Amino acid sequence: MYKFAATQKVNSRMTKDQAIDEIESLSRQIEYHNQLYYQESRTEISDFDFDQLLHRLIKLEEQFPELKKADSPSQRVGGAITKKFDTVVHKYPMLSLGNTYSEEELSDFDERVAKGLEGEQYEYFCEMKFDGVAISLTYEKGILVRAVTRGDGTQGDDVTANAKTIRTIPLSLGEGDYPEEFEVRGEVFMPNQVFQELNAQKEAAGEEKLANPRNTASGTMKMQDSSIVASRKLDCYLYYLLGDKVQYESHEQSIEALERWGFNVSKSYSKCATIEQVQNYIKEWDQKRHELPVETDGAVIKVNSLKQQKRLGFTAKSPRWAISYKYKAESAITRLNNIIYQVGRTGSITPVAELEPVLLAGTTVKRASLHNANEIERLDLHVGDLVSVEKGGEIIPKITGVQMDQRLSEAEKFEFIHECPECGTELIRIEGEANHYCPNDIGCPPQITGRIEHFIHRKAMNIDSMGEQTIKLLHDKGFLNNIADLYDLKVDQVLSLEGFKELSANNLINGIEASKSVPFEQVLFGMGIRFVGRTVAEKLALHYKNIDSLMEATHEQLVEVSEIGDRIATSVTGYFSEESNRVLVERLKAAGLQFSIDEAKLENMSDVLVGNTFVISGVFEKYGRDELKQLIKDNGGKVVSSISGKLSYLVAGDKMGPAKLEKAQKLSVAIISEVELEEMLKRR
Ligand code: IVH
Repeated sequence: MYKFAATQKVNSRMTKDQAIDEIESLSRQIEYHNQLYYQESRTEISDFDFDQLLHRLIKLEEQFPELKKADSPSQRVGGAITKKFDTVVHKYPMLSLGNTYSEEELSDFDERVAKGLEGEQYEYFCEMKFDGVAISLTYEKGILVRAVTRGDGTQGDDVTANAKTIRTIPLSLGEGDYPEEFEVRGEVFMPNQVFQELNAQKEAAGEEKLANPRNTASGTMKMQDSSIVASRKLDCYLYYLLGDKVQYESHEQSIEALERWGFNVSKSYSKCATIEQVQNYIKEWDQKRHELPVETDGAVIKVNSLKQQKRLGFTAKSPRWAISYKYKAESAITRLNNIIYQVGRTGSITPVAELEPVLLAGTTVKRASLHNANEIERLDLHVGDLVSVEKGGEIIPKITGVQMDQRLSEAEKFEFIHECPECGTELIRIEGEANHYCPNDIGCPPQITGRIEHFIHRKAMNIDSMGEQTIKLLHDKGFLNNIADLYDLKVDQVLSLEGFKELSANNLINGIEASKSVPFEQVLFGMGIRFVGRTVAEKLALHYKNIDSLMEATHEQLVEVSEIGDRIATSVTGYFSEESNRVLVERLKAAGLQFSIDEAKLENMSDVLVGNTFVISGVFEKYGRDELKQLIKDNGGKVVSSISGKLSYLVAGDKMGPAKLEKAQKLSVAIISEVELEEMLKRR
């Protein structure tokens, strides 16, 4: 294990020579831990200690900018801004692959290969076809010098600063048998889980959701601010080694070399001796591919011998030695009965197709999302059309086409509605946005109940004694028209609802009462101001300290706050310029909700423990167990109950159980005392 030596302050008298040594040592340690984590899924150091190493390195590089190397691991956190991406001509053009869609077409490919090789023996190497953005990485003397997008195949964009933030792309290779200069190609992607988390955040902030992981990865790689790219947690699989000095005999050997040098190669490949084995590989992976972290839409079949690849050569567009097999997106044909319109809490209207139920990929599908008016127009949907429905990367099925020849001549075309289906208000369409909106935010029922649902959410007011159904019932009875009405609810009113008894009604009211102590930042998030998600709410709460100063903030002042842009500022000032919202705030204040940051608490808060998990065990001298827990939480740490290899620290007191201690020792978890925890907090 590397020694951890990152706590001392950057010394202003440090000589350049000392800085060189320390930068070198820190870089080596960081890359070592990175490699361990991303290649072997192991850790020998807590996230906290890792961050300390990185911060120390960044500080030193700020002090001695001339010592910052092209492969410094500090570039993982981004920060470089690219105003305009330089165009780079590819040394070897980035071609595409021919497609096949059936066993027959695949056999045809095999015949062409056999013919081209004039009776020589050959074998195939099969891989998955990853659905991301192609990237070309150039290494010189083991250091990543350039990352370029595919572009038009001949020239692409230099996205090196962005690529360097992708943790599985090595910035330097250390010792190894690699050639002095080589290029490696692969696919940058956004892992499905990361994509889903990102969309959940967007939804919570009332923002438009992203269409799919592929487009998101592609958009992210073209962002100008590399620190945002770093936060997007992209990943990359490599699958192709090129270079004048690369002297392997087979693709298999190049793949093994890439693995040896520390590149991230997906384990989904397989060598196949015959085209029948290829067919089996394809069948086997049709299901298994859904377990991969990345979307895949097919398999890539490559002739294994590099000599034979050379003999087969290329057509103008693609290699003759490789082909892709595209899996059929599961699809079915069914009748479109109707289009209904759903109204979200922000008033956005989503059209949904009602279909004749049909079996698709193991589930019965009755509905498909249509996104917005443009989509209905694009598909030219008519009442009763026979449509094809597909389940692709998105969870909700989508309509991909219409059987035009089956359309009845009298079938009426669907016209997008002009009025809100729930309250009859005329819809509006904000310039530049694809969605229609119902502007009646005060009177439109699903908007009212949607806002209350958002308000009681676990991450907002955390009122778990209440659910969607109860909100609707209370609204129908006229007891609940906005979030402030919650605090005027009486037990009798709740009792008048079907299914409520004394105990459950009291429970509900107590839950509402308890929410009055929820901290300001959560209240602010719960208010449901468009684009104010949890993180933004925290930023605003910390900056403005209380609701009054936030309400008075002008657009110019808001955009001055770090990470608050034009769009959020417009939304916030727009929200507070509405008299009805100001009245709401006053009522909530009168009810006793928290509308300012707890200053005393603020003083004792920090983020020094962010990213670290703690288990507390035993009896302590200075603190009670709950006190310790709060202390850790207030400083950004997380308290968990069981010891695992991923745990950062075990805070051990007196009379701790021997089993726990043994487990922690076995898993090499750092064991600290309450005094050592205090020491850590002194760094805040
Ligand atoms: S090999 C000369 N292998 O598919 C051919 N490509 O349609 C070199 N792709 O631009 C490409 N997974 O972005 C290869 N395992 C894989 C792949 C793969 C995805 C993409 C790549 C390429 C496109 C070709």
